[in-house]
Amino acid sequence: MHVEIQSFFFILIFTHHQLKPYNTFMLPAVCDCFVQIESENEVPQSLADGLFDGNHLILGGGSNVLFVSDFHGTIVQMCTQGIDVLEEDGERVRLSVAAGVSWADFVDYCVSHHYYGVENLIGIPGLVGSCPVQNIGAYGVEVKDVISKVIGYRLASKKAFELTNEECRFGYRSSIFKTDWKNDVLITRVEFVLSKKEHFSISYQGVVKELEENNLPLTIENLAATVKAVRDRKLPDITKIGCAGSFFKNPIVDVAERDRLLQQVPNLVFYPAGEGRAKLAAGQLIDLAGLKGVRHGDAGVYPHQALVIVNYGNASGTEICDFYRFVQKNVFEKFGITIEPEVNVF
Ligand code: EPU
Repeated sequence: MHVEIQSFFFILIFTHHQLKPYNTFMLPAVCDCFVQIESENEVPQSLADGLFDGNHLILGGGSNVLFVSDFHGTIVQMCTQGIDVLEEDGERVRLSVAAGVSWADFVDYCVSHHYYGVENLIGIPGLVGSCPVQNIGAYGVEVKDVISKVIGYRLASKKAFELTNEECRFGYRSSIFKTDWKNDVLITRVEFVLSKKEHFSISYQGVVKELEENNLPLTIENLAATVKAVRDRKLPDITKIGCAGSFFKNPIVDVAERDRLLQQVPNLVFYPAGEGRAKLAAGQLIDLAGLKGVRHGDAGVYPHQALVIVNYGNASGTEICDFYRFVQKNVFEKFGITIEPEVNVF
């Protein structure tokens, strides 16, 4: 049941709202209050009215959350729309994008305008306002490579902020919004600087191979379509199977730890991750622990990509939670490595 208790032109407030349609795991959970904001102009008043004063969660596309139980507090979703060109010359374009724009629509817009930089990030679910939070990344690109500014409000102080790329302190699946400022920001806009000159990131071997095999010249449309095809083969279609993309982060370990594991797993996959550190592939570790395709009731490890945990239909949040801990425990017992969720658990 949901009751609409207020409906102004640009802000909708519901009580006892069902969250199943708002989380890609498709888990049933109810929140006390659900707020949709359709105009940035409403934000200062909402802050002044104390909308964010209690327990709250800013929800993007719901593709990175696991609701283990009902949410006692207010869930806020930014539904603002608009992509504005702030400036451009022959080389670059600077865009300001509203937080509620879907990431998929933004990538489509950039590909069709031949603005280079986000084509490798095609197919990632969610909204533009969420992309800086965990610095989304795929196929050799991270969104930090193209973000110039993040704009929004601090919730405790109710003050507006504008952060430069450097001030966002981006790292692997991390930023200031996930660390020091966690749960204390409402992002309203993200600014991007994209190249208007042909410029590709083709470090991911599988994508290059597929372009060659299909005799496709390297163009922004072909690269985007190829990344999408590679991605679709490995990851579930979130409109059909409940999941949240990669459930775990790839663990970053000391090179000494990597060398120890190399004795155990000679074909260990790893990437450089800064001075003396290496990033391992959690999917490979889960796979080698024999868990790919393993299922407990309706919770399971996706058979085509072990990094993904899926809800085959009627798993509860608690069942998904128990299952991810089972995966974590098995990987630790086999390899002595702790894999941490990328997904936020509530
Ligand atoms: N691997 C296995 N078994 C598996 C899965 C992976 O052996 O079941 C091995 C692969 O063979 C490969 C290595 O692990 O050598 C890495 O696999 P892959 O290239 O598929 O990437 P990933 O590390 O598993 C990351 C991102 C994905 C992103 C891909 C492609 C994280 C947590 N995940 O996955 O992001 O699409 O790279 O760049 O960093 C997401 O965040 O939701 C997401 C899908």
